[in-house]
Amino acid sequence: MLEQITDYTTEVNNFNPANAAELEAFRIRFLGTKGLIKDLFDQFKTVGAEEKRTMGKGLNEFKQLAEAKYQSLKEALETQPEKTVSKEDLTLPGEGFEIGSRHPLSLVRNEIIDIFKRLGFIVAEGPEIEDDWHNFSALNFPQEHPARDMQDTFFISKKSPADSGEAAGDIALRTHTSSVQVRMMEAGKPPFRAIMPGRVYRNEAISARAHCFFHQVEGLYVDENVSFADLKQTLYHFVQELYGQGTKLRFRPSYFPFTEPSAEMDISCTICHGSGCQMCKYTGWVEILGCGMVDPNVLENCGIDSTKYTGFAFGMGIERITNLKYVIRDLRLFSENDVRFLKQFQTEIS
Ligand code: PHE
Repeated sequence: MLEQITDYTTEVNNFNPANAAELEAFRIRFLGTKGLIKDLFDQFKTVGAEEKRTMGKGLNEFKQLAEAKYQSLKEALETQPEKTVSKEDLTLPGEGFEIGSRHPLSLVRNEIIDIFKRLGFIVAEGPEIEDDWHNFSALNFPQEHPARDMQDTFFISKKSPADSGEAAGDIALRTHTSSVQVRMMEAGKPPFRAIMPGRVYRNEAISARAHCFFHQVEGLYVDENVSFADLKQTLYHFVQELYGQGTKLRFRPSYFPFTEPSAEMDISCTICHGSGCQMCKYTGWVEILGCGMVDPNVLENCGIDSTKYTGFAFGMGIERITNLKYVIRDLRLFSENDVRFLKQFQTEIS
C-alpha cells in the first residue's frame, strides 16, 4: 500500500492538464466517490493496528496533496482566459474583415436613378406578380394580339383547375415595368415624371445572351405639351451623363403597342467608339432602349384625358447598359454569385 501511495504521489505531482475535461478526469480518478483515495481508505480499514499508525499519516498527506493540487489547477484553469489576454500585445492591429462589394447591376441601376433624379424624375415601384390588365391590356395589347408574343410570358397557374375567379392566364410574372406606369397613372393625376426600376421575367432559354429574368429601368413623363423633342433631349442628356460627353445617339422607327410613334435608340459603341468590334457586331452602333410617345389609348385606359395630356415613355435593360460599361460577355455571370466575378466591382459601401 505504501508503494502505491508513493506511485500515486508522483503521478499527482506530475499531473498537468491541458483543459478542464482532463482535470475533471483527474478528480474522478483520485477524489471521486469511487476513486482511488476512497479505495485506499477501504484497504486501510483492513490492515493491522501497527501498520495503521505508519500508513495513516502517509494516506492523509496524500489525500491533502491530491485535493490541494485539484483546487489550484481548477483555479488556474478558470482564470486562464484573462491571463492569455494580458499576455497578448494589445497594440497589435485588430483582425481585418472583408467588406462586400455592390453588385454591378446595383451600381449601374443606382447611377441611372441618380441621373434621372437630377432631371426631376421620382422612383416608382410595383409588384412583380401582375395581372393581365396592368401588364398587357391597359398598355394597348389587345387580347389574342400577336404583340403579346413579343414578350414570352410566365403565367401563374390557378390553385386548382376548378378554381373560379379570374380567367386562366390572368396572373403572370411581369414582363416589363411598364405595368408600374399603368399603376402610377391610375392612382394619380398628371403631371407624372418617374422611372421604374425592377426585375422582370420572360420565358427564354438561359444562355450567354438571354435569361429568364433581367432588370429594367423604364421611364414615364406625362404633362401638357410633352413632345418627341422632350424625349430626345432627356435621353440625350442621360446618355451623355452615363457614357460620357460625345456619345452619339440615333433613333430608329419601331413598334410597341403602348407608344405611337415608337422608336429604338442606338448609341455609338462605347467599347470601340465606332471603329467596329464584337460588341457592336462591327456596325459602330448598339441598341440600348425602346421608347415613344405614350399611345392615347393607354392614357385613356388609365383615366387621363388624352386631348389635354401627352407623354413619352422609355424602357431599357440594366444588364445591357452594364455590359456596355464593363464588357461582360455572359449574362449568366450576373446571377451566379461567383465572388471572383463580384469582387471585381469593389466599391466603397456607404
Ligand atoms: N416595355 C418595353 C419593353 O420591355 C420597353 C419600352 C418602354 C418601350 C416604354 C417603349 C416605351 O421592351
